[in-house]
Amino acid sequence: MCGVVAVIGKENASQLVIEGLKKLEYRGYDSAGIASEANGLLQIVKSEGKLFKLVDKISRLSNEKKYFDSSIALGHTRWATHGNVNVDNAHPLTSENRIAVVHNGIIENYEILKEDLISEGFVFKSQTDTEVLPHLFMKYIKLGNDFLKAGRLVLQDIKGAFAFVAMSLDFPNQLFVSRNSSPLAIGLGEKSNFVGSDAKSIDHLTQRIIYLEDGDHALVNLDGIEIFDKNKNKINRKIINIKAEIGLITKGGYRHFMEKEIFEQPSVIPQTISNLIKNNSEININLRRLGIETKSALLITAAGTSYYAAMVGKYWIEHIADLPVIVDLASEYRYRKPSIFGQTSMIVISQSGESLDTLMALRYAKKLGLSTNSIVNVEGSTIDREAEYSLYTRVGAEIGVASTKSFTSQLIILFVISIALGEKFNKLQSKKIHRFCNYVNKLPNAIAQMLKIEDKIKLVAQNIKNSKSIIFLGRGLLYPIALEGALKLKEISYIHAEGFAAGEMKHGPIALIEDNVPVIMFLVSDGNEDKAISNLQEAYSRGAKVILIGDRKCIEKASFAHLKIEIPNFETDFKSLLSPLLMAIPAQLLAYHVANERGTDVDQPRNLAKSVTVE
Ligand code: G6P
Repeated sequence: MCGVVAVIGKENASQLVIEGLKKLEYRGYDSAGIASEANGLLQIVKSEGKLFKLVDKISRLSNEKKYFDSSIALGHTRWATHGNVNVDNAHPLTSENRIAVVHNGIIENYEILKEDLISEGFVFKSQTDTEVLPHLFMKYIKLGNDFLKAGRLVLQDIKGAFAFVAMSLDFPNQLFVSRNSSPLAIGLGEKSNFVGSDAKSIDHLTQRIIYLEDGDHALVNLDGIEIFDKNKNKINRKIINIKAEIGLITKGGYRHFMEKEIFEQPSVIPQTISNLIKNNSEININLRRLGIETKSALLITAAGTSYYAAMVGKYWIEHIADLPVIVDLASEYRYRKPSIFGQTSMIVISQSGESLDTLMALRYAKKLGLSTNSIVNVEGSTIDREAEYSLYTRVGAEIGVASTKSFTSQLIILFVISIALGEKFNKLQSKKIHRFCNYVNKLPNAIAQMLKIEDKIKLVAQNIKNSKSIIFLGRGLLYPIALEGALKLKEISYIHAEGFAAGEMKHGPIALIEDNVPVIMFLVSDGNEDKAISNLQEAYSRGAKVILIGDRKCIEKASFAHLKIEIPNFETDFKSLLSPLLMAIPAQLLAYHVANERGTDVDQPRNLAKSVTVE
């Protein structure tokens, strides 16, 4: 999703902005651009595609002495919403070559504003919603307003979600910034200041960060910043000291971040666990802070992979704690009138802590009176800051767009929540609590064993890499993993893939089965496996290429399958209860290897963003 970086007060501002943009690359983007000021003129360089193209363009212009660095620069990586991917639509967008703006979000009322501005004589050069911003600034500056007043008038005109930074040749030592829903951080330096979409993008420049609150606007000067709230009152926001982390993040010898993140699961998941379970069986989750003091229904909302984690959480919490759980897609929750009957608490799950849909669902639930909590990976993210109580996955930065280690660590937190709730509401005996905690502690090792089936998964990947469409089936706890397996595969290999509840096949999806369509099932013997195998048999009888990834017992029972991948041997109760955590691994590996076979951009797949900050 769009990334914004700005620097004021450093000689090599453009270079520092580019370094910041590189740290935002993982979010996903399709074009990039930079604005700076030299000799009293605005310099804009933009390019389609990856950042290195922009860097090449700048160095070519510099060699030809057509580009001069300056002490002020804005940069942007664009993830197209309004208007195609091309140089005209890339940011910064300008007005009369005197104002430049970079923006993340959507100006929802841009059409009407654009019509008015055109009738007032402004010329639009792009198809974007963003271009209204520089023209509005220009209009108000021409009317005699200073930068702050002009910015405030712009804010009065616009509706939507945004985080933007503006620079103007008329106010050469100032930046005007504002945010509403989309994230924005300001970094404090010595006679220099910085702005970024997240703290990481500017942590090479400073570790002193201020997060703007919704509705805030600020004037960033060389030697200080002035922040105002939505009522234009001058306000002090907390300065947070962050740790510079991103500098340490490398692929560590792996080809892709995604591969590294899959394989580091056994070593990072202990960080998730150590915070949740102390002394082998003491659960460190505060149910009072979670807002579940009496037996009530729990709401969980999320998007994408995090939503599938929520689905698994529902199965566990209902099974172990006997508490009803309502799982809702964040993007749906806010736009209907949900009933909160019987509910006291909601949990949102988000790796980034910035998904706008999820943030909006949290805010909506807060308004409805629910206690709002989060499971996040990025501490200090907007969702973390707005939730009343947060549990952290603590698996380190996840750079690959397709979520892997975040998913498994979210599952672990949900499983431990279910034990805590089971202890409180379902009178789980301490022996059982001890056993379940022991299961959690065994997970890093079990996942390490699951990773050893990589070579067999590679063979499956080679076998299915040219398929047009792939079906994943699952039952019970493994139904969400079928959905996740399909999502992962389509995200990075671009093959059409769908996950279905195995029992639902006969109610429609079976019509999709024709000769050689791969049907993949993850299965462990839990006493109900025969039902799932019958569903697989139905697909087999209609010509599907049946691929079973399961334990020995299931493989023996489904000997008809075309490809059978046996997983390592685990104790029956452990493997059936924690099957989603085990089977997430072949699902991730399969997607990864199919994508590799097809040569796609694994870490930054087309059209996708890591942190989706628009609705
Ligand atoms: C994007 C990513 C998905 C991710 C989803 C939710 O769509 O491409 O991989 O699962 O956002 O992200 P979150 O950060 O809220 O977990």
